[in-house]
Amino acid sequence: MLKEVMQDILISCGSVAKVVQSARVKSSYCKALPRMPREDCFLLLVALALKTVAGLENGLARTPPMGWMPFERFRCVTDCVKFPRDCISERLFMRTADLLVSEGYAAAGYEYLIIDDCWMEKERNRITNELMPDRERFPSGLSHLSAYVSQLLITILFSVLVSACQIHNKSLKFGLYHDVGARTCMHLGPGAKGFHAIDAKTFAKWNVDYVKLDGCYVQGIDLNKAYPAFGQALNKTGRPMVYSCSWPYYQNHPNFELIKKHCNLWRFADDIRDSIASVARIMLKYYRMQQNLTKHAGPGSWNDPDMLVLGNFHLSYDASRMQLALWAVLAAPLIMSNDLQTVRPEIRALLQNRAIIEVDQDPLGIPGQCVLISNSIQVWLRPVMPTNNIGLRSFAVAFANVGNHEECPLCPLTFTIVLQDLGFTNQMGYTVYDLFDSKHILGLFKPKDEFTVRINPSGVEFYKFKPEDIY
Ligand code: GLA
Repeated sequence: MLKEVMQDILISCGSVAKVVQSARVKSSYCKALPRMPREDCFLLLVALALKTVAGLENGLARTPPMGWMPFERFRCVTDCVKFPRDCISERLFMRTADLLVSEGYAAAGYEYLIIDDCWMEKERNRITNELMPDRERFPSGLSHLSAYVSQLLITILFSVLVSACQIHNKSLKFGLYHDVGARTCMHLGPGAKGFHAIDAKTFAKWNVDYVKLDGCYVQGIDLNKAYPAFGQALNKTGRPMVYSCSWPYYQNHPNFELIKKHCNLWRFADDIRDSIASVARIMLKYYRMQQNLTKHAGPGSWNDPDMLVLGNFHLSYDASRMQLALWAVLAAPLIMSNDLQTVRPEIRALLQNRAIIEVDQDPLGIPGQCVLISNSIQVWLRPVMPTNNIGLRSFAVAFANVGNHEECPLCPLTFTIVLQDLGFTNQMGYTVYDLFDSKHILGLFKPKDEFTVRINPSGVEFYKFKPEDIY
């Protein structure tokens, strides 16, 4: 019982107020510990709970967050007269919320609908100092939008209950962009500088579940103090909010040990663009920093290589596979930025590929690394579940062809490796599954066997190697 109590508290606590409250609620557990006086038991619960406040153990983002954010696709379009479909407005978010559910994304796990920059009025409310959403583009207000988002599944479920076999029994969640500096990056709205407590409270009032805090216009601000301070302001509200920080991106020598204590996820590379070159650049940046980046990521704390750009204009089908597979290897948040109304069915199927999402969301939470580069081929490897009967882990392995091979930069390439050279030592071998085609099992491979793949240009092959039991 005590174990259950501890687990429960560790998972549900985010702030001092909340842990005390939580301990109070859980004090019913004390009845299950008859030999311990009630007061001592209650204090024990509070102490256990408080232990979690030191780092960012807010119980959130135990697996990388999944959702949708407009910035890469819709940028900062504010003219809703000329561009009614594309402007940053409540209409765009309601339409996207509907599509997240009706097109099956929510059921696949994409749950956060996050408003990026350009949602605010240029100035704060003169009397209360609160932030205000742009009156013309968000006429119903953000509480209304957040309620729409979180009620949506319930409403839709009633209408499709009969035909729906895949029902995800939770609502969508609502996220919001802000900036730790004087103004937001697009300069349209005021930043959080000097207003941490008010802004955190406003977000809690609007039932925000996820905050992306950018780092523009930070002259005179010490990011190593400002990001933790805003995180504490969020915690003080008592409302659990995933905390996404752009903090390391704005520093030459980020202190990931510190960042990890305060943020659920953090950007470490440039803004993604809708191109395979941009995807490859981010992969390269990760590769150069991978020792440091992988050390600090795990349940509750994730490296964020930025949004998924599948479904837009410039990624081929193969390049789309590549971004998705690599983001899953990195244990990256899967936050799409696209127009869900125009995503082609084959890209939608990729985005909803359950086997790949399962790799991304693997409960071990160990991010992968690039373990081998040979000309244009990169081999990326991530330990995942399940384990075999002696605890050897499975591996998700991505063979990427980044396509600058001298001989034929734009050709498919053949690559062969002996499995033990990848560190696969299980003598009983590994059953290999094609993660893009869950029905395709490639067979059983032993450590000394050669494994050969043929990889399209700017493409990837992605497999799961599951160790057989040892008898
Ligand atoms: C920065 C961030 C982007 C986006 C824009 C919005 O560039 O890195 O992800 O939020 O600001 O202005």
